[in-house]
Amino acid sequence: MSDDRAVGVFDSGLGGLTAVRELTRLLPREEIVYFGDTARVPYGTRSRETILSYMRQDIAFLMTFDIKALVVACGTASTAGLPLLERDYDFPVVGVVEPAARAAAAATRSGRVGLIGTEAAVGSGAYERALRRIAPGLSVRAQSCPLLVPLVENGRGRRGDRVAELVVAEYLAPLQAGGIDTLILGCTHYPLLRDIIADAMGPGVVLIDAGREVARRLSEVLSEGGALAGRAAPGPRRYFVSDSVEGFARRAALFCPEAVDGRVEKVEMDIAAGAFVLPPET
Ligand code: DGL
Repeated sequence: MSDDRAVGVFDSGLGGLTAVRELTRLLPREEIVYFGDTARVPYGTRSRETILSYMRQDIAFLMTFDIKALVVACGTASTAGLPLLERDYDFPVVGVVEPAARAAAAATRSGRVGLIGTEAAVGSGAYERALRRIAPGLSVRAQSCPLLVPLVENGRGRRGDRVAELVVAEYLAPLQAGGIDTLILGCTHYPLLRDIIADAMGPGVVLIDAGREVARRLSEVLSEGGALAGRAAPGPRRYFVSDSVEGFARRAALFCPEAVDGRVEKVEMDIAAGAFVLPPET
């Protein structure tokens, strides 16, 4: 059994392309329709109510493509109430929290797990709840890192960048003091800081990439449902953004150099309908 319909992927902006990179590696035959809400990013500083209402609009847009599954690549959106949303859709909705929490619970030896994410993601407590459900004895230390998203978006994530190294070291110090042996990178942008984070934490700490884990989980979900794509060729890609296409082109390579090979289009908010729509062909 196979299903060649597209997988919808959404993020608050372009960070979700780190998950697209992982999806492309793991499931190259899948068609991907990506929506990045670049006009309203960041979500990480917003309230849960606002994030949920944005999410519903983002998902409604992706549903115009008859998707077979949805990946919520955004760490913040995934923590905002995914179980609530899952019930509203008749296709699988896969977010990063559960898969990353499972990977962390399997990796830790000491039972002390760390989490870094945006303010909204950490404030939600969603990872703590997931980790305690999976392995009740685990202790979790969480740290919000609001400066990391802007650093990455300004191309300041590479090893040797003294500002990024300083900021990362300050954020990670309490987690190091807490003796964690496993750290969840709970935001789309953090894989781009991986070297700096790994250097700061040292070789004894396992880093869990939420984007990689969500790709693995999607692969399981599709194969269990007999819904993997059957095509022989690599799956097509379409990208939609709510702000300028030029901004996408400028920044996308930072997140996913190999996978940004499809069409990029801008969508507009139809205020009266409260929905994103494709502008009429000119
Ligand atoms: N994509 C968001 C996340 O993974 C980071 C950017 C934002 O705050 O919207 O949490």
